[in-house]
Amino acid sequence: MTRPPSPRTLATRRLTLRPQWQADAEALVAGLGDFEVARWLSRVPHPYTRADADRVLARQREAPARSWSIYAGGALVGGVGLEDHLGYWIARPHWGLGYATEAARAVLAAHFAEHGADDVESSYILGNHASRRVLEKLGFVDVGPKAIPCRALGHDVAGRDMRLSRAGWQQATDN
Ligand SMILES: CC(C)(COP(=O)(O)OP(=O)(O)OC[C@H]1O[C@@H](n2cnc3c(N)ncnc32)[C@H](O)[C@@H]1OP(=O)(O)O)[C@@H](O)C(=O)NCCC(=O)NCCS
Repeated sequence: MTRPPSPRTLATRRLTLRPQWQADAEALVAGLGDFEVARWLSRVPHPYTRADADRVLARQREAPARSWSIYAGGALVGGVGLEDHLGYWIARPHWGLGYATEAARAVLAAHFAEHGADDVESSYILGNHASRRVLEKLGFVDVGPKAIPCRALGHDVAGRDMRLSRAGWQQATDN
């Protein structure tokens, strides 16, 4: 299997997205350690410890994935990744500022800038109205129900499968 290329740093109007590195560990624990963040994510355990963050960062060093830390004004405010699907989180003090949409848009722009880039999948857990709205703003469409594993809750939960085609992306960026 070929490894995805290491992610490069991306800049938006307000944000810097850069590959995760060890100095991010404490901010990751603070942000992802919040149950109100972890409960909407698939792979984040609760409680989320320094050892959990260190494990993720070590894996990232060994096999860089398309995953970024999101910085605003020098502070880590969240994360975004696009491996098999688009995923993102923003630390609770920074919700409602448009950061998730702005960060995901930069990652998708880089993705669709590649010739022949595949459609992008994402999903959200039912009740996560903010995430559904983010995906809609980006041009994703609902393609049906999906059972989503949630490590923080310890079981699968009902969600929706979402998909973004190149045409959907272009239409969303034209608006
Ligand atoms: C979902 C999440 C990433 C959103 O981050 P954010 O930076 O606040 O998102 P944005 O500001 O870019 O956009 C949020 C949108 O949802 C809307 N929204 C927020 N709460 C809402 C609610 N309860 N009902 C409907 N819409 C809501 C906002 O008004 C905004 O839409 P608008 O621009 O049309 O006004 C953040 O809440 C989070 O990290 N949650 C926990 C982890 C998570 O859910 N990750 C995604 C997993 S699929």
